[in-house]
Amino acid sequence: MTDSRLKMALIGCGGIAQAHWQGIQRVATRVDVTAVVDNNPDAAKAMAEQTGAVAYTDIDDALKNGDFDAVDIMLPHDLHESAATACFDVGKHVLLEKPMAHSIESAERILEAGSKVDTVFMIAEQAQYWTDVAKARELMDAGAIGEVISASGNFYDRVAIDLDAPPPWRYSLAVSGGGLTVDGGAHWIRPLRMMMGEVDEVIGVAGHHVPRMEGESWSRMLMKFENGTVGVLTCQNVMHAAGPTDMFRVTGTEGEIQITGGREGQLMLFNRDHPRGESIMNAVEGKRDSYGAEIKDFCEVVLDSTTMAAPPEYSLGEFRTAQALYRSIKSGHWEKVW
Ligand SMILES: NC(=O)c1ccc[n+]([C@@H]2O[C@H](COP(=O)([O-])OP(=O)(O)OC[C@H]3O[C@@H](n4cnc5c(N)ncnc54)[C@H](O)[C@@H]3O)[C@@H](O)[C@H]2O)c1
Repeated sequence: MTDSRLKMALIGCGGIAQAHWQGIQRVATRVDVTAVVDNNPDAAKAMAEQTGAVAYTDIDDALKNGDFDAVDIMLPHDLHESAATACFDVGKHVLLEKPMAHSIESAERILEAGSKVDTVFMIAEQAQYWTDVAKARELMDAGAIGEVISASGNFYDRVAIDLDAPPPWRYSLAVSGGGLTVDGGAHWIRPLRMMMGEVDEVIGVAGHHVPRMEGESWSRMLMKFENGTVGVLTCQNVMHAAGPTDMFRVTGTEGEIQITGGREGQLMLFNRDHPRGESIMNAVEGKRDSYGAEIKDFCEVVLDSTTMAAPPEYSLGEFRTAQALYRSIKSGHWEKVW
């Protein structure tokens, strides 16, 4: 049924909706965006002009009157549950941006509601589709670095501070459910899980240096994976220029895999055959189409009954890892993720 198509509503027309729309145009080309929803009329109108869809300013109105079978929810985290359940209730297929919710309880309720319907439910986590990370795992499985010992991830996120503007919603803990680690940090936790396996327990520290941001603006987390290997993840908001860092590094008994960041990012393999390092692939290319790839995956699960790359239960793992970090900061002990 490769000629079938999926009518979709974009719910939330802010920052990430642009990346999703580009991904639909470039990669998920069987998706027709027929409705766009945002309670900011200007945002809804602008997105409608871009996509050619009908604009709505109210989710219930769109669900009642719009012509679509699937939704792509891109809202502040505390609205994920009400929006997702409203869509489940009227039989829509639901793609929901990470994190699943602003609390584990809310996420569990979403999972429960999603498990009771026949429609498709998937969490949008584009890092699942980073081809450089998949290639790194392939090299590891092929023994290219020997026995895997440890990994590290470095997430640096530049923030522009405007003290005259109202604080962004993600600065409120009640809305976001956490700081940098639940937000952009999720896209570093997922690749670490893809390469190293499931996280068993974590311990860490965090701090607050970004004005008005209630959640942490930096964290350092030690991770023990279920297979006995260890990892360390740095999440860091920077308000200034910063030097280059590795995005990821995986060390084994016979070599190392490195994914470097920036415009010239590379997936590099270092071992006995390649002591100065072999460039395996351009890491930027490995990520460029990942938003489109996740929407394409969702679309194919709906239209072709394929199996999604990562089921929603698995996709709670990044949020649970961040919440375990927060518990460990309070307790001073290692905390279980699951
Ligand atoms: N995967 C990624 O790389 C990535 C990057 C950024 C954000 N995100 C996620 O995407 C989601 C949205 O984040 P964003 O950065 O696009 O936020 P944003 O603030 O830029 O956009 C959110 C939009 O939702 C609209 N909105 C708020 N309340 C609404 C309501 N009740 N009804 C309809 N519309 C409403 C706002 O007007 C805004 O346009 C979050 O879950 C966030 O974590 C993911």
